[in-house]
Order: sequence, then C-alpha cells, then structure tokens
Amino acid sequence: MSPGASEASEPAKGERPLSGLTSGGGEPSGEPGEPRREGRGSATPDASAGNTADSEDRGARVIAIDGPAGSGKSTVARTVADRLGRPYLDTGAMYRAVAFAALRRGVDPEDLEAVTRLAREVEMTVEAGVVIVDGVDASIEVRGPEVTRAVSAVAANAAVRAELVARQRRWAEERGGGVVEGRDIGTVVFPGARLKVYLTASHEARSERRSKEATDLSYDDVAADITRRDHADSTRPADPLQEASDAVVLDTTGLSVDEVVALVLEHVEQAERPA
Ligand code: CDP
Repeated sequence: MSPGASEASEPAKGERPLSGLTSGGGEPSGEPGEPRREGRGSATPDASAGNTADSEDRGARVIAIDGPAGSGKSTVARTVADRLGRPYLDTGAMYRAVAFAALRRGVDPEDLEAVTRLAREVEMTVEAGVVIVDGVDASIEVRGPEVTRAVSAVAANAAVRAELVARQRRWAEERGGGVVEGRDIGTVVFPGARLKVYLTASHEARSERRSKEATDLSYDDVAADITRRDHADSTRPADPLQEASDAVVLDTTGLSVDEVVALVLEHVEQAERPA
C-alpha cells in the first residue's frame, strides 16, 4: 500500500481488491477490556470494562472512532485513514449489509434465529464506499430508508453482533490494524485500541447534516429517524452505544470536517508518540 493513500480509498489492482469480511465462526463479542489508565476524555463508566490480558492487547494498532448518526464519523474516519495511509472499515455498513440481505431474502429483521443464520452465511465486502452482499452491489440500497428502518433490529441481535465483531477483528488482524468506525469499536470490538475517539454533536446539527445528504427526505423525517436510532442504539442490551471511559470525546457541533480531522490527527500523533 502506498503511503498517503488508504487501502480503502485506492484498492490496489490485483491484490485483495475488497475487504473480505468472511464468516467469523461465532466468536463471542463483548470481550471486556480494562480501560486505559491515561484517563483522557470523559469519565463515563465503560460497561464493557473488565480485565484480561488478551483483550487489553486487542486492537492495539486500531484507531477506533465511535458516535451516533450524523456525528461525522464516516467522513472523518475515511479522511483520517486516507491521510494516514491506513485501511478503513465502516462497521455500520456491515450491519446494513445484513439488514439488506434479510429484506432481499424475505426474512423478518426481527426474527432472531433466521437473521442469525443469515449473518453467519452472508458473504460481504465493504470497501471504498462499495458494499457487495452475496455478489450483489448494494452500495446504494444499504443507505436507503428501508434498510435504515430494518437495521436497528438487526443490530440489537446479540448473535449477529458476535458474528460481525469476529469478522471485524479478523479484518484488523489481517491488515495489522486500521481506522475502524462504528458504535462499539472502542468499548467492545477493540478495547485495546491505541486511540479511541467518540464523536458527538447536537441533535439539531446531526439532523441538519443528514437531511442535506438525503435530499429525498424532509428535515423532520430525518430528525425523527435519528431520535429513533439514538434511542435504539443506546438502550439495547447488546453492546449499546456509549463512550469508552478512555475515549477522547469531541463535540463536532459547529466544526468543519477539516477541523475535526485535524483534531483527530493531533490525537493520533500524541497516542503514537514514543514514550
Ligand atoms: O451512518 P449512520 O451513523 O447513520 O449509521 P451506520 O454507521 O451506517 O450504522 C447503521 C446502524 O448499525 C446503527 O444505527 C447501529 O444500530 C448499527 N451499528 C452498530 O450497532 N454497531 C456498529 N459498530 C455500527 C453500526
């Protein structure tokens, strides 16, 4: 991979063109990780906090970027990965891919067993904004309203999460780390991440950003959807959205993408500076 270009934005011809997020074999999710001791950022307790040597190392070369819808995660994470020349993974696209596969096969997204089976079988690749599900290019549909409505039920399914978390960990192992964005990356997937960033913004700012992206939906519809998903994501028992106790919390309300990227890159430099 050439320096200055992430694998995500410029897949090299002929070599591993898409990130193979192959079936994970049911490794349990939610392995606890001991919070880091530097104690930067918020002091919110980390429900996943625990204490095993294995999980402390988990994802040491990962930069974890979490936050709610419209907080700017995807744009910021992709740009940071590009600037650092590291691979980038959008884990939200993986949950969306499972929701898409369920709708396509006529499986009820609320049917725990059927969706779990599907999540274990489905083939998906997620890279450079392209999402392939069982050989079908679903890049546009995964961002559409139908999938967005179905994804919360899929993401609340603990067995689906276990499967996708295993795939995410394997993705990072195969690449020696990368920039990974989602809802539970710093708390559950990579508790040992080198840097954890939690992006947030006011509900209004997040709704405004999203309604500019989704030109076919009104501001009110977008705002209502964000309220619904915020609630579903933060109250589900399985790996809820929350700040890791050792995350750097950045409120992006009123900040441009460039400003947020610059802040994150400063924190990366600080986290990677030799002691
Ligand atoms: O882009 P946006 O923030 O709207 O959502 P996304 O990142 O594409 O994620 C879609 C949905 O997947 C979220 O509403 C969460 O329910 C779920 N998700 C999750 O549970 N855990 C993750 N690591 C990433 C996404």
